[in-house]
Amino acid sequence: MSSAPTASAPHATSPRPMTASRSDGLRGRMRVPGDKSISHRAFMFGAMAVGETVVEGLLEGEDVLATGRAMQALGATIEKRGESWHINGLGVGGFLEPQGPLDFGNAGTGVRLAMGLCGTYDFVTRFVGDASLSARPMKRVLDPLRAIGVEVVEHNDNRLPIALRGPRTPLPIEYRVPMASAQVKSCVLLAGLVIPGTTTVIEPIMTRDHTEKMLAGFGADIQITTEADGTRIIEVSGLPELKAQAVTVPGDPSSAAFPIVAGLIVPGSDLIVENVLMNPTRTGLLTTLSEMGGQIEIINRRLSGGEEIADVHVRHSALSGVTVPAERAPSMIDEYPVLAVAAAFAEGETVMENLGELRVKESDRLAAVARGLEANGVDCTEEEERLIVRGRGAVPGGGQVATHLDHRIAMSFLVMGLASDRPVSVDDRTMIATSFPQFVPGLGALGARFTEADA
Ligand code: S3P
Repeated sequence: MSSAPTASAPHATSPRPMTASRSDGLRGRMRVPGDKSISHRAFMFGAMAVGETVVEGLLEGEDVLATGRAMQALGATIEKRGESWHINGLGVGGFLEPQGPLDFGNAGTGVRLAMGLCGTYDFVTRFVGDASLSARPMKRVLDPLRAIGVEVVEHNDNRLPIALRGPRTPLPIEYRVPMASAQVKSCVLLAGLVIPGTTTVIEPIMTRDHTEKMLAGFGADIQITTEADGTRIIEVSGLPELKAQAVTVPGDPSSAAFPIVAGLIVPGSDLIVENVLMNPTRTGLLTTLSEMGGQIEIINRRLSGGEEIADVHVRHSALSGVTVPAERAPSMIDEYPVLAVAAAFAEGETVMENLGELRVKESDRLAAVARGLEANGVDCTEEEERLIVRGRGAVPGGGQVATHLDHRIAMSFLVMGLASDRPVSVDDRTMIATSFPQFVPGLGALGARFTEADA
């Protein structure tokens, strides 16, 4: 298997600090890599389908490659041929007992979905990850798995390392997801695939719906009812025959967020980000930036692989502070760090609410963002679930930002440095490879000034 997903885990490398400096206008066109959420699921669903799934546009970031290695350890065959990835799956219920622990590196999506995917099997699977992932809460997925009858053989206060053994007879459950989390919803739905009968997930607040859409596309029997108050009831029938598919992965809106915000804040910028997923569960940032006065034009809307995609044309803009509605949080949950950067360059106060989930991402993002803003002379207030940024149209910069193994913190503050008065440094940029390996060269080609700094 010459081009299997073999890249080394990011935590195996030493930190590489980087500095971003005030740049001239960013100009040109850029294509961001494939969507991370869809890429993880393409490997997982391909591994469960009968036949050969072919994936185009996969994100070849460390997080997704870790999922690919885990699917290989469970018996799937994965090969890269030319630009496409070929996955030969084992059928639902067909995974083999892995010979060693499954290492998900930095990836919460990878590990939480995989616990649903193979945690119900009647063998022991051990899940491990890097320091960031090992600090993240897993009780949110262990709770429903325990209700199904899964034995948690090993855990560290409900954190990794975790070992699971499925029951002889797993039970279908009805599970109301207690927090807005697509990962928890997906974990339960994936577990339901190997449980006879109907597994039901109740989702009071809609989150990204890639699992539902892709399961339907692979041939699962999945029914969704939406009640008057927006609550979604998702029912999946166990033991379907999933059939291999051709999957085209659209560009990741969460990665597109970085060149888009850079284009808005760097004077003289005029750029186009191509091929961006427009699924409404993912576009909250574009709505918010437009409300702030950002000149953002969605052009060339088209369909690709069952999803709407478009190109995003961005020009440097004078931004004003806004209050972001609390209910918008799930559709832009990964974008708050870079929104905070945009808010720092706006005039006036930006209020961000309902941010509790940010505390349990790759880092405590609420705290990491607030410290990074303060280090660069931006006035802000961090509350338990809110962040208030008081923008003054310009940012002094000059700060050193601690990234806490968090790719989105690193990229957000590198974007800040492209427009601040003095350069901004981050203590490490290696983990950017988990989601957006082309970030530095890609923005560099548009005119961004990044320099390697000394450790
Ligand atoms: C994801 C769900 C979100 C998001 C993450 C990807 C997914 O996490 O932050 O980057 O692919 O399902 P939560 O489910 O914890 O909100």
